Amino acid sequence: MKRMLSGIKPTGQLHLGNYIGALRHFVENQEEYEMIAFIANLHCITVPQDPDELRKNLRDCVALYLACGLDPKKSTIFLQTDVMEHAQLGFIINCHTYLGELNRMTQFKDKQAKGEKNLSGGLYTYPALMAADILIYDADYVPVGEDQKQHVELCRDVAIRMNNRYGELFRVPEPAVPKVGARIMSLSDPSKKMSKSDTLGDKGCIYLLDPLPKARKKIMSAKTDSLGIVHFDPENQPGISNLMQILSSLTGESMDAIEKEFEGKGYGDFKKAVANAVCDTLEKIQTRYNEILESDIIDTTLREGAEKARAMASKKLDQVQRAIGMEIR
Ligand code: AMP
Ligand code: TRP
Repeated sequence: MKRMLSGIKPTGQLHLGNYIGALRHFVENQEEYEMIAFIANLHCITVPQDPDELRKNLRDCVALYLACGLDPKKSTIFLQTDVMEHAQLGFIINCHTYLGELNRMTQFKDKQAKGEKNLSGGLYTYPALMAADILIYDADYVPVGEDQKQHVELCRDVAIRMNNRYGELFRVPEPAVPKVGARIMSLSDPSKKMSKSDTLGDKGCIYLLDPLPKARKKIMSAKTDSLGIVHFDPENQPGISNLMQILSSLTGESMDAIEKEFEGKGYGDFKKAVANAVCDTLEKIQTRYNEILESDIIDTTLREGAEKARAMASKKLDQVQRAIGMEIR
């Protein structure tokens, strides 16, 4: 069975972009692949965090993984820091990653370009830790949204470099980026990615735990255009195209089918259909989420997941350290 691995960094609450671009695919793929899904809590602290808020977000993230349908019997679900091998291989990978490569990472460059002050060394080198997360499990595929593709490509380059130098150490993974919904845009500014750090209040971002009326309101007030036709054209109609991507991802309808369905109808009807699809999805997730919070399934899942993951990770770390010549026993 091929292996898939992915992580989410809950630096805030999970949103619809995380669900459509990533989480949903973890769930779909757990039938066909051996799925490893972890909470990237080391990656979280690459930017400053409030400890109480972080603790809550981590718990919510596990609960949401489960509420979205990840099944601990089929998938390995754990907290990154419960498997310390990640950090250790992370340092080793860091030592095999060139500054030139890190300098090319657009996520870091964008933050720098925005003039954000006091960016940490951890944020700069985080793609090396992400590569370790992937390589330590010999993952075949990494389901991620568009913004993470470059990091998976860096991971491939470093894996190939280390394989050439030390012999076959790592499986070289491939990014699995969905055709529709890999980059859900902000509802209030469709030129920007939907993101936890949305600056325009939180009107542009639908959180998975938003009360349904609030989520509906955000969709109904999403920015559109004055053309008045439901047509997929991200360049000229970014707002409408974004809503179409959301609808298509959640209902499975093709863009053509959506265009036909709303031919001659106004944006109001179209937005209502998107809002219904979003609210249906959120309602199911939130019902499960509330049940999960009241049970002890989170702790059991993390404990059992970490045990399984640790067994795989410690073997790989040992193999790497031996190949490099770092062990004498
Ligand atoms: P992050 O929230 O940055 O930890 O991202 C977790 C996963 O969600 C990654 O695979 C991202 O690529 C994906 N993701 C984040 N934001 C979006 C978005 N606006 N549209 C689609 N996927 C996204
Ligand atoms: N860097 C990813 C993000 O910000 C999260 C992540 C950490 C990840 N390690 C990973 C994703 C390994 C895939 C595989 O979204």
